[in-house]
Amino acid sequence: MKVVSTQRSQVLAGRLATALNIPVIDTRWQKFPDGEIYVRAEQPAEKVIICGSILISDDLVELLLLKDIYSESDISLIVPYMGYARQDKQFNPGEPLSARAIAQILGNGVSRVYTVNIHEKSVLNYFHTEATDVSLSTPAAAYIDTLSLENPLILSPDEGALHLGRDVASHGNWDCDYLQKTRISGEQVRIEPKSVPVSGRDVVILDDIISTGGTQATAAMMLYEQGARSIHTVGIHGVLASGAYTRLTSAGIASISCSDTIERACSTYSAAKVLAEYL
Ligand code: R5P
Repeated sequence: MKVVSTQRSQVLAGRLATALNIPVIDTRWQKFPDGEIYVRAEQPAEKVIICGSILISDDLVELLLLKDIYSESDISLIVPYMGYARQDKQFNPGEPLSARAIAQILGNGVSRVYTVNIHEKSVLNYFHTEATDVSLSTPAAAYIDTLSLENPLILSPDEGALHLGRDVASHGNWDCDYLQKTRISGEQVRIEPKSVPVSGRDVVILDDIISTGGTQATAAMMLYEQGARSIHTVGIHGVLASGAYTRLTSAGIASISCSDTIERACSTYSAAKVLAEYL
């Protein structure tokens, strides 16, 4: 078995290869003058792990090209961050079910698929092959432990995300709650934990995706007003769109971190070991 990756996921693929003690396939990527992607990889292997997160459309094309190179092999496809998974329903008439469109094309011709903390698990059904979602609650909790916070409170941004918060909190025996939005007037909303006050506490806001950082920055400002001692944010997937990092920093957030499902300077923990256990 060998690992091959798109340009987006080279570091994670390397870590995965180390964890599994298998080789990484050498790939050379180029762009044609018209913007099309060209790749050449080592000769096919009998079994291959293809690893690539989808943050932009070119990432998807790179995955499709690798799948084609190894179409004669037994392919395990890892999509650590699956972009388009948030459009998991037709919210309005005339919209695509984007998660289905992407999953169908990825699942075709592969033996199994692994995602990491996918936004909505029902999306797994669209791959039309064996598909498993892997949770990073263990390495996320291990990272939070390194912050040496005093009795931290783990907060999910809403009730729907509480399952991840609970999982992570259970590793450290930490308190866990979710944020509730109350509309005070036409312009004003109050964001506070459903039941556990934050006054004097170290708080970790935990979310599957940090995209623009708006959710976490707004919550952090309100939690500081409620007396939180320090606020940290942990995301599984650091999309970090539209200046998210600066937005979070300017909201007074003490530390910002995410995993290496999207390789960032603030990727402080890895998906490699957990994924290796499944492969
Ligand atoms: C939404 O459903 C996700 O779970 C995240 O809460 C969301 O993507 C965060 O977005 P932003 O960082 O832009 O507030």
